[in-house]
Amino acid sequence: MKGEEYAMNAAQQVESKRNAGYRAAEMVEDGMAVGLGTGSTVFFAMERLGERIVRDGLHIVGIPTSYQAAIRARQYGIPLSSLDEHPELDIAIDGADQVDPALNLIKGRGAAHLREKCVCDAARKVLIVVDSTKMVDTLDAPVPVEVLPFASAGVFRRLALLGAGPVLREGVKKDGPVVTDNGNLILDCDFGAIEKPRDLETEIATIPGALECGLFTAYGEKITIIVGEETGCRVVSLH
Ligand code: A5P
Repeated sequence: MKGEEYAMNAAQQVESKRNAGYRAAEMVEDGMAVGLGTGSTVFFAMERLGERIVRDGLHIVGIPTSYQAAIRARQYGIPLSSLDEHPELDIAIDGADQVDPALNLIKGRGAAHLREKCVCDAARKVLIVVDSTKMVDTLDAPVPVEVLPFASAGVFRRLALLGAGPVLREGVKKDGPVVTDNGNLILDCDFGAIEKPRDLETEIATIPGALECGLFTAYGEKITIIVGEETGCRVVSLH
């Protein structure tokens, strides 16, 4: 199965994302330090968290994974802090670009995966909010790799030797490459169907200057996937 995009129009997809985001926000408890991921589905979680802060007097602190997440969280009135202040988080809410049955993820469409992985690692529990188009049998989307500019030629070469066909991500409404929130570049790597995602993540991590890739394979035990549907949600975990 390759997602369910054929069955969903844009309005249905927005409704599905809203349902997933809202459900995740309802799972946040008073006093929690909450990792805030990047992307359109997490926006809905932040919207509902903002409502709960006003309506129910919910007290939380958010740790944003990007400028985008920080800007949106402020708009919704979510108080912000940092991983320095909260190296352990009660929960994180994030999106994903693909999810497989073992709850391995591909992330980084928005080039935020380096900070997202730091926040995922710091969190005791991780809620991944997606619509059903993200659920696949085998990960096969391009894997973004955040690269230190100083080492980009060497990393490009090493990734090419792995068969990735790396492509430097170009900006939109900005000439030249995407520069991440951390001042680095992104190489998008097409490995085709990824049969052993953990091995590939480990292999990429051995390349000096490859700062982080978008494969998340070590967190299945603490991840809960909230799959938004038009009229509700489906919850998937390994337990
Ligand atoms: C950001 O870099 C990604 O890891 C996002 O979490 C991912 O692209 C999800 O975005 P949407 O919720 O907009 O699909």
